[in-house]
Amino acid sequence: MTARRLTDRLGGLAFGGDHNPEQWDEQVWEEDDELMRVAGVNLATVGVFSWALLEPEEGRYDFGWLDAHLDRLHANGVAVDLATPTASPPPWFTLAHPDALPVTAEGARLVHGSRDTYCLTAPAYRAAARRIAAALAERYGDHPALALWHVHNEYATLCYCEHTAAAFRMWLRDRYGTLDALNESWGTAFWSQRYGSWEQVLPPRATQWHRNPGHTLDFSRFFSDEVVAAYREQRDAIRAHSDRPVTTNLMMPGYQNVDLWKLGREVDVVAIDHYPDRPGRSAAADAAFAADRARSFAGGRPWLLMEQGTSTVYDRGRTLAKEPGEILRHSLAHIARGSEGALFFQWRQSKAGAEQWHSAMVPHAGPDSRVFREVAATGAAVARLAALAGSVVTAEVAVLHDSDAWWGLSSDGLPSSELDYHSALRNAHRAVWDAGVVADFAHPEADLGRYRLVLAPALYLLSDAGAENLRRYVADGGTVLVQHFSGVVDDRAQARLGGYPAAPLREALGIRVEEYRPLRHGERITLSDGSHGTVWSESVRPQGAETVAAYTDGMLAGSPAITRHDFGAGHGWYLSTRLDDADYTALVARLLDTVGVGPVLPGLPPGTEAVTRVAADGRRWHFVLNHRTEPVQLPTPAHDLLTDGPVAGLPPGGCAVLNGGTSL
Ligand code: GLA
Repeated sequence: MTARRLTDRLGGLAFGGDHNPEQWDEQVWEEDDELMRVAGVNLATVGVFSWALLEPEEGRYDFGWLDAHLDRLHANGVAVDLATPTASPPPWFTLAHPDALPVTAEGARLVHGSRDTYCLTAPAYRAAARRIAAALAERYGDHPALALWHVHNEYATLCYCEHTAAAFRMWLRDRYGTLDALNESWGTAFWSQRYGSWEQVLPPRATQWHRNPGHTLDFSRFFSDEVVAAYREQRDAIRAHSDRPVTTNLMMPGYQNVDLWKLGREVDVVAIDHYPDRPGRSAAADAAFAADRARSFAGGRPWLLMEQGTSTVYDRGRTLAKEPGEILRHSLAHIARGSEGALFFQWRQSKAGAEQWHSAMVPHAGPDSRVFREVAATGAAVARLAALAGSVVTAEVAVLHDSDAWWGLSSDGLPSSELDYHSALRNAHRAVWDAGVVADFAHPEADLGRYRLVLAPALYLLSDAGAENLRRYVADGGTVLVQHFSGVVDDRAQARLGGYPAAPLREALGIRVEEYRPLRHGERITLSDGSHGTVWSESVRPQGAETVAAYTDGMLAGSPAITRHDFGAGHGWYLSTRLDDADYTALVARLLDTVGVGPVLPGLPPGTEAVTRVAADGRRWHFVLNHRTEPVQLPTPAHDLLTDGPVAGLPPGGCAVLNGGTSL
């Protein structure tokens, strides 16, 4: 069961969004039918937050209204992505099961009044979630409108209650077998934390000062496994009654409560939500970042952009509007990198409720609006790309991505509060994006053989297997760039002894890091090649590596800052400071050049994105997206699928999907 089956059923790529007809009356439903036809909507996500209507009292279901909407949508040629409503339990549920409400790390039990107020480990919640999922699947499992199942919505709510404590202890018993092993792993000899019985172990609730890093890391792993288990329960309840593909929408890239490599293996099609957090070119780079992650979590297979905003860029407390043209360009940015369509939250902007100011495909102003006209134009463009369904995107560069490293680097007590995993990952991806090259993300223990270049930013935690994998990758001919404070702890969050990073990686890099030296606030150091670093420095001892650039200031003056090592058939590079963005981009561009990886359409100016999708039969399409404020000439004129005509250049903000011939 794959994305392929979804697009087969739709007859092309998906276009549409969350449709919440329960917020409206019949007159609006009729207008919705008409406007969905105008906009080319072929997939509507229904029921995400409908639990209170579907099950008004425990065990009493009211499906009549949903029957009518599914039939109406089907008659209108719109397929349905039917959600289980479990992200928002109704008030009766929380009153009947107060123990299923989430408790914060500080011990406050939250109450209903928003959404996502549930404890994932509470038996009553899990049972209710399974029940409503099964009831929906039994009723709609083979409904002709049904194209996809959408389990839950953005699993994310953490809880520290007694149910969670009990489940956490079971997870720990399973992992460690004995308390001695747990005590050893967490290093509980320090600060008198030794546990004498399993009952003494709690979730990492609010405490006096730094929490134990082994404890917090294992809690993150435990919670992630709980999410995967909760998803599987609903998925399996659905599968008992339905053969349609099942998914859940993964959170935006900045949230890391779940190991998305694991969850990606459980869904029939990976689906993501994406809302940029900066306007302009950064939004485009962020879309590429999110899309490349989604494709990677999908194992390279096509995936689905489940949610985006028609006019929503969250920027440090402000919700900025997308500029004219961005609804199409952002949609194509995702499709270029493997999405089987472009969906939005939500179809019609709510007039009431907590998200009444959130953008939508039909804004408050109605269809006579810039937003709706751009939506309809985007729907028409997506419809012209039906032939692309099932085609894939390949990459020759990988950025390593590991939840354990992320969680490890979120520990208390690190030597700098500016060691941020997410931004390090984004910077690495951005540097590759700026070079006009597509990157995959890869797990440190995955087979990296198909990549010419691997970037390892902020890989704080690295297992023995991961370190050995990277050593072998370089020995076999790969080029790796490992960045500061990587490989410094093992998979128990315990420090590597004898010098950093982990021994097999030291061998590949030909260095030994003897000392880490965070820089002072505002300190900016100069390297011998003229580049600059901030935040961090390290005392690096070469053990076979050559110095590419040395520190020029302070106690580290003359010692290596950037190194390169010929190892086996490959090359291990090490970067021991956080370079300024422009210098880092230049270093990554140099490495791309060294390994011979360049843009798919050479000669395009920076800020022009070009990505190729390839079908199983060898047909190729080049997406060209001009994120600049100036026009751009294409290297050679080509046929554009969006206009079904020739194209030689793009205006500012313009897009084209070029017929790229056949590569087989
Ligand atoms: C998420 C949710 C939606 C909506 C949007 C708002 O993606 O899934 O329900 O709240 O955020 O941006």
